[in-house]
Amino acid sequence: MTKVFATMKFPEKGINMLQEEGFEVTVNEKDKPLTRDELIENVMSHNALFCTLSDKLDKYFLNRCSHLDIISQFAVGVDNIDLEEATRLGIPVGNTPDVLSDATADVAFGLMINVSRKMFYLHKSIGRGNWKHFKPDANLGIEIKNRTLGVFGLGRIGMEMARRCRGAYNMKIIYHNRSRNKMAENEFGANYVGFEELLGQSDVLSVHTNLSAETDGIFNKDAFSRMKPTAIFINTARGRIHNENDLIQALNNGIIWGAGLDVTNPEPMDPSNPLLSMENVAVLPHIGSATRETRNKMSELAAKNIIEYYRGNKIPNLVNTGVSIQD
Ligand code: GLV
Repeated sequence: MTKVFATMKFPEKGINMLQEEGFEVTVNEKDKPLTRDELIENVMSHNALFCTLSDKLDKYFLNRCSHLDIISQFAVGVDNIDLEEATRLGIPVGNTPDVLSDATADVAFGLMINVSRKMFYLHKSIGRGNWKHFKPDANLGIEIKNRTLGVFGLGRIGMEMARRCRGAYNMKIIYHNRSRNKMAENEFGANYVGFEELLGQSDVLSVHTNLSAETDGIFNKDAFSRMKPTAIFINTARGRIHNENDLIQALNNGIIWGAGLDVTNPEPMDPSNPLLSMENVAVLPHIGSATRETRNKMSELAAKNIIEYYRGNKIPNLVNTGVSIQD
């Protein structure tokens, strides 16, 4: 019998689909990610892996578990997996794109509004007894309407963020990508710009790219110094794309105005991190895709990748398309 190991308690939908297909599914019931050694120990006796972004599938893990037929990631980002090595070992890797674009863009959009009006900070300040009376010159935020949204990585999630900003606030959209996004250019007149221009012209700069050697730490001291002092930086992609110390300095020194983060480096964020007590900062615990609907769809997609593989069909969302699958 084909055995699937699920590294966490994923939404039941996908797990049920796998069981209905006749697979034996073992679910890690512990309320924390497994260590690499625990993961290896469990995966040894299984044929397929249902995993997520907190599972580190590095070269060592993959070589110890090279018997795996397929790895199915419950997430769109796969930076926790050494894809090159998986490909070399002939292990296909699937992921769950598209279904989480709306939910993640909602979080980026929500963070933008929250930061522009200091909402998280002011919410907490009421609890500290700081709401004494109405003050005409206090708690002032900044307005977003008709401003410029800069999207770093205008793919599926970036498109949804741009649509929201265009529709709700008539924002001008500029973007920087590896390649031009003609759909965005036609749909809302998005302008392709170089990285320098993106930094210099954005009132809100929202990150929607994947983590790679090119994007690792790209938002650093130098990048922040080229942004507007009134700019809001939003990251719902991966925490390593910005340098957290440089971001703290930029905010403390008024180099940029505010930041909204759904991703941090490391995750979880240390509760004493200074970002958590700044007025113009909102931080969330990586909840981009965390709606019931989206997480169910992700679970279904992740299961489908495994089911179709064993049915001998094309894997619906294969990431390492260059892999030559072993029989
Ligand atoms: C979440 O961060 C994902 O990559 O799906």
